[in-house]
Amino acid sequence: MINLSLYSCLKYGTMKVGKSNIFHRQNQATSKGCGMENTMRIGCVKEIKNNEFRVGLTPDNVKAYVNAGHTVYVEQDAGLGSGFTTEEYREAGAVIFEKAADVWKQCDMMVKVKEPLAEEYPLFHEGMILYTYLHLAADKPQMEALMAAKVKGVAYETLVETDGSLPLLAPMSQIAGRLSIQEGAKYLEKIYGGRGVLLAGVPGTPKGKVVILGGGSVGTNACKVAVGMGADVTVIDMNLKRLAYLDDIFGARIQTLYSTDAAIEKAMAEADLVVGCVLIPGKAAPKLIKRSYLKNMKPGSVIVDVAVDQGGCCETTKVTYHDDPIYTVDGVIHYCVGNMPGAVPRTATIALTNATLRYGLEIANKGLEKACQDNPVIYSAVNTYDGKCTCKNVTDSFGMEAHDIHNMF
Ligand SMILES: NC(=O)c1ccc[n+]([C@@H]2O[C@H](COP(=O)([O-])OP(=O)(O)OC[C@H]3O[C@@H](n4cnc5c(N)ncnc54)[C@H](O)[C@@H]3O)[C@@H](O)[C@H]2O)c1
Repeated sequence: MINLSLYSCLKYGTMKVGKSNIFHRQNQATSKGCGMENTMRIGCVKEIKNNEFRVGLTPDNVKAYVNAGHTVYVEQDAGLGSGFTTEEYREAGAVIFEKAADVWKQCDMMVKVKEPLAEEYPLFHEGMILYTYLHLAADKPQMEALMAAKVKGVAYETLVETDGSLPLLAPMSQIAGRLSIQEGAKYLEKIYGGRGVLLAGVPGTPKGKVVILGGGSVGTNACKVAVGMGADVTVIDMNLKRLAYLDDIFGARIQTLYSTDAAIEKAMAEADLVVGCVLIPGKAAPKLIKRSYLKNMKPGSVIVDVAVDQGGCCETTKVTYHDDPIYTVDGVIHYCVGNMPGAVPRTATIALTNATLRYGLEIANKGLEKACQDNPVIYSAVNTYDGKCTCKNVTDSFGMEAHDIHNMF
């Protein structure tokens, strides 16, 4: 795929004009002039969502795209929130633009983290690829804007690998799971209104009791950290195979329980920290923690409801944000932040881009259509194409006609 004469040509073009905001057409002409197909102008802008500090490309990612023959445009300071300086992007071969609007206008493929916000819709242009989390089922205006502009919307959250896994969602579940114990441990401290319990305890004191509702990706990662801290850990799940797996991995260091109302109510009453992380794909989270259970819980105990992005698994859950993450009901502290990985943007950006780079390069190197044909897994990520919505879960949730992406090119 890489044509060396083109590569040096592109590289030269980038270095020559890298500090200018008006060189891009010249640079594109240079790459076309070198006769290489499937080179793209890749864009990366600063996320504008409230308290979002992750970024779609790291400097190392930029290097990978540039080495594959692409041109990468990065908005100034796009990566600062994740600790990546503009100079690092420039050294990696990116061309720096002062304004996000210029990156949007000039790129063939925008690589982001979060869904675009309304003020970004006017920057869409026909045929551009938008590679990011889209969450269209919860955002009809965005879906309509992508369709109206004929943007090729490629959503991280719907890319399903051949084994059924969701590789572009997994890193965020891993982070949220590990963070849930860290945050829960913090709010157990007295100064935050917590019970004043150290999860690990010390010799001669009881260990803190952690109950994890749901032993999937989030639950397993919560379990790792809680066990590592030395807490007394119980995992509750309705999937016996999953419980058997956890039993194999963690052995006698955890207790596993089959999920029933009675088991949950009893475990809650004994818990210092409860992590809610159940999921029934495509559905609202089941409300496993009834309000009546809270009265039997220890005052100052903590519930971290990670499943809040699916409505939460506790009847008293309401969405909170990083700048004011907790509230108290019946003496029990609730932490219900919908974008937990946003608290650790450096780790989250590296983890996310480790997963997105591979598919992003496939799309850039081949064009979206050929990338799908060569690796059909990528079809599952295409949510909008040629003015149509091509994701059945999304069209179903809006009662719209579904269009099968496999028949569109
Ligand atoms: N708040 C955040 O920042 C954040 C970040 C990442 C993930 N999440 C959310 O966390 C939730 C869990 O994600 P995941 O990746 O671990 O999902 P997963 O599918 O890997 O695991 C979910 C688990 O819940 C279990 N479950 C389902 N119904 C149950 C019931 N009635 N009783 C007990 N267990 C039950 C399933 O058997 C499964 O093991 C999702 O809602 C996800 O969107 C939130």
